[in-house]
Amino acid sequence: MSKTEARQAFKEIFGAEAEDLFTAAGRINVIGEHIDYCGGKVFPAALNLRCNVYARKTGGKLVRMAFRGIDGVVELDVDKLDSYRGLKIGNYQAGVAYFLQEKGVEIVGCELYYDCTVPFGSGLSSSAAIEVATAVTFCEYAGVEYDKVELALLSQKAENQYAGVNCGIMDQFASAMGKKDHAVLLDCSTLHYEYVPLRLGEYCLVVANCNKPHNLVESKYNVRRQEVETALKLIREKLPVNCLAEITPKQFAEVKYLLSGVVEKRAEHVVNECDRVQRAVEALKNGDIVELGRLLNESHYSLRDLYEVTGKELDMLSELARKETDCLGSRMIGAGFGGCTISIVKKTAVEGFIRRVGRAYRDAIGYSASFYETSIEDGITVQKL
Ligand code: GLA
Repeated sequence: MSKTEARQAFKEIFGAEAEDLFTAAGRINVIGEHIDYCGGKVFPAALNLRCNVYARKTGGKLVRMAFRGIDGVVELDVDKLDSYRGLKIGNYQAGVAYFLQEKGVEIVGCELYYDCTVPFGSGLSSSAAIEVATAVTFCEYAGVEYDKVELALLSQKAENQYAGVNCGIMDQFASAMGKKDHAVLLDCSTLHYEYVPLRLGEYCLVVANCNKPHNLVESKYNVRRQEVETALKLIREKLPVNCLAEITPKQFAEVKYLLSGVVEKRAEHVVNECDRVQRAVEALKNGDIVELGRLLNESHYSLRDLYEVTGKELDMLSELARKETDCLGSRMIGAGFGGCTISIVKKTAVEGFIRRVGRAYRDAIGYSASFYETSIEDGITVQKL
């Protein structure tokens, strides 16, 4: 939907012009999967796929929200923000408003039209984009200064404690702090971060959605978190670490006898994935895209065999990509169980890649994958209309 169409839709629904546009980004993650909640370093980047909030401040106690493609208006009464946890649509927004209010930010009545171009359930963090864009909107309308990292943390809290998904900080951080043409190397235990130019030479990243119907991702995600917490508890009986990410592969070899079964496999993934992030960032800084691609493949295999969050659709999509001569590596991103892959593909070969992988995927799985045109952009944007 174009900006003009979105503004037109706003006018039709609310009977007045939108005055501001607040946006926050969806994200990819180059490498470092399922380690943010283990204190690891992750390497995400913000996308051109975003949550766009067309907005008008009205004052008063009502936040009125409409959504592209969905009929009706959802209303939040700012005096009852605790009571919207069950909402199917609008609960992320209510959660953000609830925790901002708790911090003393006055939630000012407004009309909001959401045009979210991050596909839902795709592993590209539509929820973080919605939370962060909403947090910016409320802060701007309350006239308070805000720190983007604080907004990311508050958005994560809303997702954890209001929406009930025990996610780490990666998505909200990337959504708020992403920078054009850069990936963010974020240390999730300290929140120190570094921007690294995402220079892939004659290669680019292709983002593909396996389009598997959404199936209980949140509950499976929460189970993984419990498993790594168990692993940490057991390891700490021998090794005084604060988080799994502090453990080197060599140390892990010495303590893994303390673990067994899935708990051992999950911890092994975390330890190795943390190590891969370091090597991948080095490879990228050295312009060694072949090595970067190899590490992406390894990451996928580990998510498939040790963390067990892929599934046949993501495995097929990344495997078909890997078979292409002009593809250096491919892996699932995000929580998994469905959603997207990223592949490093020679720029001149992208068209053929999409055609061949797309066709073979449809033949194997029975429905089509989607391929997105993406670019790496800034996290938050604020614009007067
Ligand atoms: C989801 C969560 C993130 C992160 C990834 C897996 O996107 O929201 O915090 O844990 O899964 O890396």
